[in-house]
Amino acid sequence: MDQSKAPVLEALTAYHESGQIPFTPPGHKQGRGADPRVRAVLGDAVFRSDVLATSGLDDRTSSGGVLEEAQALMAEAVGAEHAFFSTCGSSLSVKSAMLSVAGPHEKLLVGRDAHKSVVSGLILSGIRPVWVDPQWDAERHLAHAPSAAAFEAAFREHPDARGALVTTPTPYGTCSDLAAIAEVCHRRGVPLIVDEAWGAHLPFHPDLPTWAMDAGADVCVTSVHKMGSGLEQSSVFHLQGDLVRPEVLKSREDLLGTTSPSVLVYAALDGWRRQMVEHGKALYDDALALAGQVRARIDGIDGMRVHGRADFCGPDLAADLDPLQIIIDISAWEVTGYRAADWLRERHRINLHVADHRRISAQLTHADDADSAAVLLTALSDLAAHAGSLRTGRPVEVPPPSRLRLEQAALPRDAFFGPTEQVPWEEAEGRIAAEMLTPYPPGIPAALPGERLDKEVLRYLRSGVEAGMVVPDAVDTEAKSIRVVRER
Ligand SMILES: Cc1ncc(COP(=O)(O)O)c(C=O)c1O
Repeated sequence: MDQSKAPVLEALTAYHESGQIPFTPPGHKQGRGADPRVRAVLGDAVFRSDVLATSGLDDRTSSGGVLEEAQALMAEAVGAEHAFFSTCGSSLSVKSAMLSVAGPHEKLLVGRDAHKSVVSGLILSGIRPVWVDPQWDAERHLAHAPSAAAFEAAFREHPDARGALVTTPTPYGTCSDLAAIAEVCHRRGVPLIVDEAWGAHLPFHPDLPTWAMDAGADVCVTSVHKMGSGLEQSSVFHLQGDLVRPEVLKSREDLLGTTSPSVLVYAALDGWRRQMVEHGKALYDDALALAGQVRARIDGIDGMRVHGRADFCGPDLAADLDPLQIIIDISAWEVTGYRAADWLRERHRINLHVADHRRISAQLTHADDADSAAVLLTALSDLAAHAGSLRTGRPVEVPPPSRLRLEQAALPRDAFFGPTEQVPWEEAEGRIAAEMLTPYPPGIPAALPGERLDKEVLRYLRSGVEAGMVVPDAVDTEAKSIRVVRER
């Protein structure tokens, strides 16, 4: 295919040039109806290109095949058989992928370090999760994706599982041995879904971790807005092999997706693919070189430890690492990541990616350069100089890995939709959670509907919130009370 083409962008240009006049949504009609104060902030271009996908970008029957061609170009560019654009984030894509592999009450193996959107998928679908333990780094209090051996053991115990889902890279940038996990699945004739929300850039440089399609995954979901040049909410599903039918995946997406997809999102996705095909190698040559320098400089700051492959990769740890995710341990200062992140935003207008009880992280992308890196380094050096004043004396009580794995006492769907009550957190021990309790970011639920709560996890959440952790999905976001299943 001609990868220099960008069908969505070209159709949008043709729409403007031919002077199409909408008597359709969106009601702002290319911004003419939008409040000038809104246009002043968002810019006219946003409204001008916010057009309907059918009877707008393409005609009523989509006879121009604009979207199909853009998706086919994406598939070819990344070595997938099919690609589908989604405008509802990987939050929707991952649910669609799950629903195309398992149905209500069927089993799906899922790494327990899954993002909350996966848990939402379990709640909505009634799929029965078989949790696969991540590889816990007990010393650093961090989870890496489960090993192939852990999936193998789970399949042995649950031979009726319909497939497996693994998250890689994790929000901390660590990657699993996907080829080995795919082999475990395929030996049983079932598909592997990869939540590669953080990996949209992986196909475009040989020195980045292996891309899921190259590793043999069946379905892989990426958020192009996270590491790529997509607009927020842009996501792509990629599909290969014959274990998941494209029409099934499409019908599941249709079930959950919007009937008003954003052409702005499609256009940016289309442009990203062309940019990567033409310039991806050079852009990531530069980004990786910059990441190497920035990592070394941060590691040299007193009290900061930048985690590299030596810390994160090994036989019982991760298989690889995306060096663009710069994970910095600041536990030597006894300052939480929450406090440090807040201080950096206040004092240096720097916004960080993940902040947890002992770490902060800075995400670099192809968009960074020496100037943005210098701003980061200056701010981090200043943080080091002020670390002493940032101690709160309120440590987060992080449980050992063995206590973080809760018993799944009920189906997530049953616990979420059944009778519930709100109880003080001190009385929630031993009760079955009826809500997700997710420190965000990174967005991995500490407890989820159907899990039996224990004291350690409750203390972790309470002490975490006291120290600055955000638990946005809880009914009581301060975690002083917890929504639990009302049991007879
Ligand atoms: C691992 C993982 N999967 C899925 C998602 C959901 O992606 P999106 O924000 O594009 O909906 C996220 C978001 O942070 C994530 O970290």
